[in-house]
Amino acid sequence: MNRQGEPSWKSDPDVARAGTLDERLHYDRRAHAVAVEKIFARSWQLVPIAERSHGIEPFTLLEGALDEPLVLTGQGADERILSNVCTHRGALLAESCSDEAALRCRYHGRRFDLDGTMTKCPGFEDAKDFPRPNENLHRLSLHQVGPLRFTGVDPVIPFDEWSAPLRRTLQEYDGETLEFDPTSSRVFEIDAAWALYCENFLEGFHIPFVHPDLNRGLDFSRYRTELEPFAVRQLGVDSGDEVRLVSRPGEDVVADYLWLYPNLMVNGYAWGISVNLIEPMGVGRCRIRYLRWVARPDLVGQGVGGALDTVEMEDQEVVLSVQKGVRSRFYPGGRFAPKLETGPHHFQRLMSADLMR
Ligand code: FES
Ligand SMILES: [Fe+2]
Repeated sequence: MNRQGEPSWKSDPDVARAGTLDERLHYDRRAHAVAVEKIFARSWQLVPIAERSHGIEPFTLLEGALDEPLVLTGQGADERILSNVCTHRGALLAESCSDEAALRCRYHGRRFDLDGTMTKCPGFEDAKDFPRPNENLHRLSLHQVGPLRFTGVDPVIPFDEWSAPLRRTLQEYDGETLEFDPTSSRVFEIDAAWALYCENFLEGFHIPFVHPDLNRGLDFSRYRTELEPFAVRQLGVDSGDEVRLVSRPGEDVVADYLWLYPNLMVNGYAWGISVNLIEPMGVGRCRIRYLRWVARPDLVGQGVGGALDTVEMEDQEVVLSVQKGVRSRFYPGGRFAPKLETGPHHFQRLMSADLMR
């Protein structure tokens, strides 16, 4: 019978001995709520705005999980991420994109500069001990790596350390421009836990079984997985005349699959990058933002990065199947294939550390 009692979230450091983390993480309401606060509120998150179109762009950070109303303002060095909540009674400030010069609250007229400083507060002429320092809008960290922006509610890992593997991936396109490609970008919502989607991404073990076409473009015997403190990199090596990554001379690498803890995947191909951002929405449900940036349009559609829609659907099918299976009363919890599943094990170790904190 499956797990009983309070979850322990322990994970053995030895992949050859470890069992999978308590499966209730994927379907139990309380476990999910703990994961949102202990993992997501403390993590770096991709800002889900791929291209700037306005000076003021509101968004919700992890809608359905953190549900934090934020707004991206300003341009260039003056770009900021601010709380989008009025410090008077908590009304939302920007409700749609605009190019206004300030954030104005439509409830009682409070006004803020695009850097979050409160500049007007009608009705408070007689207020004592006012304004308090926190009358200004809370400003969150904002970092940019290549075309990707990151923020977080209360991130604990130093950003440079967390993002170092991503900088390595983007070296492939040094001196080139990664252009966002809206036509091939998509959003999916599926009935599967965010962590199951990540676990599937983190092992190449399933490639020969689930992705027969992709497998023909890779030499699976030379597929390799590299663990970094907060990331896992998998390198696909070609099986013939595929287009190689120039940043990896002599290695025959055709695909660089990077995952950054907890929920971001950045795949480097000769033509550019595809990003999968896996957002928890609720218990056993997640949103997949699939985004592409192209550096070398002439190479799009070639090699292992060619048929990505097919691969995505093949992955989603198995993840949906696992979501149904892990809650079975007769699923005993799994073990890891020691050489082939170091990625999912590393992921579970990182989650275990956060959940036990
Ligand atoms: S809630 Fe914004 S001014 Fe009152
Ligand atoms: Fe896959």
